[in-house]
Amino acid sequence: MRAAADRSTAPRLITDVHTLRGDFPGLSQKVHGHPLAYLDSAASSQVPQPVLDAMLAQQAMNHANIHRGVHELAERATRAYEDAREKVRRFLNAAEPEEIVFTRGTTESINLVASSLGSTLLRPGDEVLITWMEHHSNIVPWQLICARTGARLVPVPITATGEIDLDVFERHLNERTKIVSIVHVSNALGTVNPVKTLAAKAHAAGAVVLIDGAQSAPRQRIDVADIDCDFYAFSGHKIFGPTGVGVLFGRKALLESMPVYQGGGGMIGRVTFERTTFADLPYKFEAGTPDIAGAIGLAAALDYLTAIGIERVASYEDELLTYATGALREVPGLRLTGTAPSKASVLSFVLGDVHPHDIGTILDREGVAVRAGHHCCQPLMTRLGVPATARASLALYNTREDVDALVAALHTVEEVFG
Ligand SMILES: Cc1ncc(COP(=O)(O)O)c(C=O)c1O
Repeated sequence: MRAAADRSTAPRLITDVHTLRGDFPGLSQKVHGHPLAYLDSAASSQVPQPVLDAMLAQQAMNHANIHRGVHELAERATRAYEDAREKVRRFLNAAEPEEIVFTRGTTESINLVASSLGSTLLRPGDEVLITWMEHHSNIVPWQLICARTGARLVPVPITATGEIDLDVFERHLNERTKIVSIVHVSNALGTVNPVKTLAAKAHAAGAVVLIDGAQSAPRQRIDVADIDCDFYAFSGHKIFGPTGVGVLFGRKALLESMPVYQGGGGMIGRVTFERTTFADLPYKFEAGTPDIAGAIGLAAALDYLTAIGIERVASYEDELLTYATGALREVPGLRLTGTAPSKASVLSFVLGDVHPHDIGTILDREGVAVRAGHHCCQPLMTRLGVPATARASLALYNTREDVDALVAALHTVEEVFG
């Protein structure tokens, strides 16, 4: 068993990590009598107090519907919602706020593009390129639209270390490839994909490019202009914000050309029984009352992350990942799945023949929260030859003590299963 971490040797890039943890009320609790070691941020991250405060303020004092009201509360809510959009635009370095559509999350963002763009762009025989490491959210929406249009879903194989081989990727591109949709950071492997290079190759083949940023947005600087992608999607609840809200960035010209996705209030220009005209961007894709407090909470989360500095977060997580990888490698019988050199702070593993659900349950009794299962990546599990893995994922508030608690609890698993 590894010795408990010495704070004097702890990563220093967030020198005040123990203070920073005080911002997250959820982290200070005990679980089953143990201090909580929350290592499941890739599923949902904890929420800091400033985000909770922003949402409470909205719902307590400014709770009103947006865009349609003429009274003070409606105006305040509208202003805060549109300010949130502007903050997202800045966070992604998008050119215009019209390019930012609030959705329910990454899943809805991808469904929007698949359903709307896919229905007009795809013809029988066309191809949608994804990879073997995609989350079901970046597989199933494409399968559905392929079934409707006669297009074909083409998954690019990955290497044994969990990477996309650029030559193999290139060989899968051809004149039939109309859409390329790829995860930036794999939730099950941690692999960081070279999305800028992949986007350039896809564009050279004439394809439209969507990047699934659910795991990358909380961990590294995202610049959609630099990546030069056509769409970028992420979720609030993985970036220290609330559930129920997410973002779709889309290039303005493409969004303008796309048919509406859902019908209802807020997305119309004029309605008669004979014909409806639609609102301008981004409202034509925001039917019905949106999650107003959610969008405001998401913007507060981006403020929080930006104030710390996303580069500092990335460096801190890199150091912690190195520490955790070394610590896990010393656990007898443990095998890491996903060992790409360019990797984010997600550690998936199997431990002998102990089922990952048993690992997760025993760890929970020790106060260590990890995820166990297929991580919504069943094709990837097939590629790895395992039904499931256990996954510890790190965020800016995790410490070496959390990693030490994980390792200690894994020794308990070994003792139980002998
Ligand atoms: C890589 C990736 N893509 C998409 C999703 C779906 O995100 P959401 O459930 O927030 O829509 C997730 C969630 O785990 C993910 O990790």
